[in-house]
Amino acid sequence: RQNERESLFIVLNFAKTFFQNTLLKSDEGQSIGLSYFRERGFTNPTIEAFELGYSVDQWDALMQEAEKRGYNRALLEKAGLILTREGNAPGQVKQYDRFRGRVMFPIHNVSGRVIAFGARILKTDKNQPKYLNSPETEVYHKSQVLYGISQAKQTIRQEDNCFLTEGYTDVISLYQAGIKNVVASSGTSLTMEQIRLISRFTQNVTMLYDGDAAGIKAALRGVDMVLEEGLNVSIVTFPDNEDPDSYVRRVGGEAFKTYIKNNALDFIRFKAETLLRDAGENPFRKAEVIAEVVESIIKIPDPLKRQIFFRNTAQQLNVDEQTLISEGNRLIRKQH
Ligand code: CTP
Ligand code: MN
Ligand code: MN
Ligand code: MN
Ligand code: MN
Repeated sequence: RQNERESLFIVLNFAKTFFQNTLLKSDEGQSIGLSYFRERGFTNPTIEAFELGYSVDQWDALMQEAEKRGYNRALLEKAGLILTREGNAPGQVKQYDRFRGRVMFPIHNVSGRVIAFGARILKTDKNQPKYLNSPETEVYHKSQVLYGISQAKQTIRQEDNCFLTEGYTDVISLYQAGIKNVVASSGTSLTMEQIRLISRFTQNVTMLYDGDAAGIKAALRGVDMVLEEGLNVSIVTFPDNEDPDSYVRRVGGEAFKTYIKNNALDFIRFKAETLLRDAGENPFRKAEVIAEVVESIIKIPDPLKRQIFFRNTAQQLNVDEQTLISEGNRLIRKQH
């Protein structure tokens, strides 16, 4: 088991270096991959820090080079680097590279070893997913990983705060703008393992999410779990059609920090505001909103913090604090 994991790390590291060399040294890599990163504003040190690469648009460029170096196909397949398909003749199989003609984002574990790849298509194509990611393997468990954690962990500790974004490019652009305490959940809702990973470095999470409906929905999902772990959660949303990457590139790092300072809402307040906006003046729906917000408040383990949130929320929703507390007690009793 241990040997197999180690072999996977080694072949994944080989693939990372192969994709890096392709990006920086081959004609196709430079003219397509590198110019793509340039258009996104990524500098050389950034490309180096995230070990970005490029996979040529051929069936087996990686597989051939890997075999030449003595890596067998079974290992390449276990690492998620090649795919196997039935051929035309009976019993015949065809094997080929999983990642072709894409810019490559290596995904590192907390100690900085490559465990998987995210791969972005260069031009939008309705028939292909924008990002293609490694499958689950012996060393890659998507639900346990936060993109960027190895580059960010030290700054997360120093700043005692972790910015949580949705995507690879959000992490990279913020890092380049000097905001290095950033990780991404990579488009999925947050898991318990990811929360525990963050809590090794800080108790404070600031979620930076798209301001569109999908972004807000993603933000509301999974946060009760974060509260339950005792973390302090704030949320910043961005104007429609912007994400942290596009926003920081437009305004720069300093203005980005100011935007965060002025727009961060604690999660409970954000939830109440968002749900209230949808409920309008309907008193029944407003009562449901109150119950939902109370549901989040009772997840907070610290009784002192909980009390403060009951008080603030009562003011915000213009209801009696004692009513909220009784509702909380009722919900707690219901759960047991
Ligand atoms: N994602 C994915 N597969 C997709 C689309 C998205 O795995 N087909 C993940 C990626 O980790 C991506 C994140 O979800 O970074 C956020 O998605 P999105 O906002 O659409 O992508 P961006 O990171 O903004 O990428 P870009 O700016 O290149 O469009
Ligand atoms: Mn495992
Ligand atoms: Mn979005
Ligand atoms: Mn984007
Ligand atoms: Mn995005």
